[in-house]
Amino acid sequence: MWGPDTQAVHAGRDDLTELGVHALPLDLSTTAPLTDVEAGGLAYERLAGGGVPAAGASTVYQRLWNPTVGRFEQGLALLEHAEEAVSFASGMAAMAAVLLAVVAGGKPHVVAVRPLYGGTDHVLATGLLGTDVTFVSPDGVHAALRPDTGLVVAETPANPDLRLLDIAVLVRAADGVPVLVDNTFATPVLQRPLDHGAALVLHSATKFIGGHGDAMGGVVAADADWASRLRRVRAVTGGLLGPWPAYLLHRGLATLPVRVRAQQDNAAKVAAALAGHEAVARVLYPGLPEGDPLGLVGTQMAGSGSLLSLELASAGHAERMPAFVRLATHAVSLGGVDTLVQHPAGLTHRPVAADAKPHATMLRVSVGLEDPDDIAADLVQAIEASR
Ligand SMILES: Cc1ncc(COP(=O)(O)O)c(C=O)c1O
Repeated sequence: MWGPDTQAVHAGRDDLTELGVHALPLDLSTTAPLTDVEAGGLAYERLAGGGVPAAGASTVYQRLWNPTVGRFEQGLALLEHAEEAVSFASGMAAMAAVLLAVVAGGKPHVVAVRPLYGGTDHVLATGLLGTDVTFVSPDGVHAALRPDTGLVVAETPANPDLRLLDIAVLVRAADGVPVLVDNTFATPVLQRPLDHGAALVLHSATKFIGGHGDAMGGVVAADADWASRLRRVRAVTGGLLGPWPAYLLHRGLATLPVRVRAQQDNAAKVAAALAGHEAVARVLYPGLPEGDPLGLVGTQMAGSGSLLSLELASAGHAERMPAFVRLATHAVSLGGVDTLVQHPAGLTHRPVAADAKPHATMLRVSVGLEDPDDIAADLVQAIEASR
């Protein structure tokens, strides 16, 4: 078996030589030629029912299948040690598909470990898709299970406080209920939740997987049965990943390990610089001793990642600070090549209930590939200028 960096470069490219191309082909067709009605109808049924195309059969229609998208999914599945992956128009479309599949499975109760990304928290809290949620802290999972619990949802590292969870412990607490781990912050370079017993791994591929802030997508990696259920939902809801972003996301996989490690090295330096600053009350970062109380960095996670959060002395200071950055950009999103700063309570986590919202003193930083001294200096000058 190839090493993980080799896989990242070559995954999902098995058919390129046969096609006579070296770079990933971009197939934009919205429809595919049919030989006859009977064969076309059978291919339609197979795909709409959640299957993958039979060898040599028509792929019928882009909402059911697209080769460029299929290659990206194959690549991501390999990196996540999954049988298959199913991709969507965004991370939220991926989460919505999972929740709809859970509801369709007849067990609509979801146990969700807070904190979660604000959009995920919101769709669960509102029950908009027919789920019924119990929000818990990490040690409350088992007690919250009910006969109709169909899913346990968690993030590690969590957005936005970077709290780490022991996935194997979580899976044991879930007692056979499928566990979904949002692996957006860690990426398969640092952590593969399926290896620790999770049933589903979800990514906002918009983040590290694309890595350049120019493609939206979401993807779920799981076994073939879950993948089939998710494709069925995708076929009827139409929340599919288009071939253009699929091409960019797949291209992103090749450099993912290099970017993740380089950004992580930068984040460690930035975290150390900020932790020593008198205006910073606290730095939340798994690479600092207090950021990893369970000792998961180096075991479950191959590194501490490149997201960090910091707490300033007052909410007012945290709200003012992002307007003063010069190198970094004041913007939501994360995981791209450039540094982004944002205020979770006011932005990404705005819809979260008041008693579960991140502290208004908190800022989240996605550390990019710039020189780490420049990033740290920019953040420090912004902290000082906004006092
Ligand atoms: C951890 C996490 N999961 C899911 C999402 C949703 O992804 P998308 O914005 O691609 O819909 C985000 C977005 O910020 C996120 O940070």
